[in-house]
Amino acid sequence: MFFMWMIAGRSRWQALVVILCLLKLSSVSGQARYSIPEEQAEGSFVGNIARDLGLDVARLISGKARIITKGSRQYVDLNRDKGTLVIKEQIDREELCGKTTPCSFSFEVILENPIQLYRVTVEVIDINDNSPSFPKNEINLKIAENPLDNFKLEVQSQPDGGRFIEMVLQTPLDREKEETHTLVLIASDGGEPHRSGTVRIHITVLDANDNAPVCSQPVYKADVKENSPEGTLVTTVSANDADKGVNGEVTFSIPHIGKDAKQLFALNVKTGEIKVTGKLDFEKSKTYQLNVQASDHGGFTDTCKVIVQVIDENDNIPSIQLMSFSNSISEDSPPGTTIAVVNVDDEDSDGNGIVKCSINSDVPFKIESSLTGYYTIVTDNFLDRESVPDYNITITVSDQGSPPLTSSKNINVKVSDVNDNPPKFSQSEYSKTVPENNSPGFSVFALSARDADWGQNARVSYFLEEKEINGVAVSSLVSVNSENGVVHAVRSLDYEQIKWFEFNVTARDAGSPPLSSVATVRIIVQDQNDNPPQVLPQCSYMLTFIPRCLLK
Ligand SMILES: *[C@@H]1O[C@H](CO)[C@@H](O)[C@H](O)[C@H]1NC(C)=O
Ligand SMILES: *[C@@H]1O[C@H](CO)[C@@H](O)[C@H](O)[C@H]1NC(C)=O
Repeated sequence: MFFMWMIAGRSRWQALVVILCLLKLSSVSGQARYSIPEEQAEGSFVGNIARDLGLDVARLISGKARIITKGSRQYVDLNRDKGTLVIKEQIDREELCGKTTPCSFSFEVILENPIQLYRVTVEVIDINDNSPSFPKNEINLKIAENPLDNFKLEVQSQPDGGRFIEMVLQTPLDREKEETHTLVLIASDGGEPHRSGTVRIHITVLDANDNAPVCSQPVYKADVKENSPEGTLVTTVSANDADKGVNGEVTFSIPHIGKDAKQLFALNVKTGEIKVTGKLDFEKSKTYQLNVQASDHGGFTDTCKVIVQVIDENDNIPSIQLMSFSNSISEDSPPGTTIAVVNVDDEDSDGNGIVKCSINSDVPFKIESSLTGYYTIVTDNFLDRESVPDYNITITVSDQGSPPLTSSKNINVKVSDVNDNPPKFSQSEYSKTVPENNSPGFSVFALSARDADWGQNARVSYFLEEKEINGVAVSSLVSVNSENGVVHAVRSLDYEQIKWFEFNVTARDAGSPPLSSVATVRIIVQDQNDNPPQVLPQCSYMLTFIPRCLLK
């Protein structure tokens, strides 16, 4: 015959030690680790992140360094100007981690241009801020006189880390000597300063005319799948009582049950059947312990332990979150340039929670894992905006459940232009005929050069290259419209003075630096019959062909 309750375990407060571990995992990641005591005031210093990650404050500012926390509360803030981490919200270790030790939380610090990702882990050290407490101030027990006497305490551990105290009778009680006993149980922790809690126990000794019920099994173990429908049978506890009639009727109850378990399980008082009445979620709790008390009408009890193990189901779809993304990448970016950082997460356990992340293979990008749960998408080749101006990347993440769950996300990356193409003339040489005696400003033809780049990088202007022809500047003969490339004769040309001439035109784009190319233009002046015939000694034998003769 025994009873039990829980005491809260406390670890000893340890001196504050700042452990720093700087680990370069890849070009885009690193880690820092700090330890702080719980209950630090808002604004308290946590660590010098700039120094510890080897970043200067200017980089934190230019990279718009920020903290990313997943879903949960943000306990720490980044002071960009000082490069430090400070407490944003007072941390209660017990609220954050319950009885889990060591207690820590992690977050990421992300920078842009270029994207860099760092993980920061903060360990929260316990201070002795809680007293041990009993669920009740007083406990009343009825114990038959014949079993045992002398109370002895036995500590028992539970699967969830909690502890039970069992108070065991060692030698018989004699009702005729003492009808009631009152004891005070003290629980004290090993903290500094010591804290303690008490409970008063009243024991009534019963007459020895009864047999106690005995659980058929001291421990019942049951596996139940999470999300099992309401009404699913967990297990059936049973107890035997040697008494006949009313004294042998056993009823079941769970005197001490947690708030969560109370909503999830129902016990049939008569049959001892335990059924599911709520939504079991493996991600919330993996085990429950129910201490079912079997009682008879004489006040005798036994406790049957029921340990319920919740089995994980693949019920959480892996998630993809874009942590940082530059939707435009310069076409001259070298292979290995980061364009996006994604976080993938799956709340399930084991295979159900192990995820694989991939992207479509028809793009010059690849996906790499940088930190646990984080992936970076980087360029895997050289890019050319003139061939492919944008890419659609599909990020797919699937878990290893059966069947696996998958989710995906599309991102569109634009390739931004770099001035890597010079304007190109349709021909490298042009030859045009102009009849002599043309009117000044006569439009000869239009030059045209195309530039494969974009925007300013493709805006072409035309320039006449100055030179002398027979002692006159070419610009006094022709002009080129810088906007549209139209070549004009500046003045009336005279075949008898000049028969043809050549000049260069440069086409230049507005990129930085600009690129250009050159075309050569030959203008042939066409003779008109504007001079009366005259005898020239050297050509006198072919008078009728004077013009031809003069061409040579
Ligand atoms: C990307 O997807 C958008 C919308 O679905 C589509 O309009 C575009 O043409 C796609 N681009 C490429 C390069 O496939
Ligand atoms: C045109 O420029 C090229 C060099 O770019 C030069 O070799 C050639 O002589 C020039 N031609 C004329 C007619 O100026």
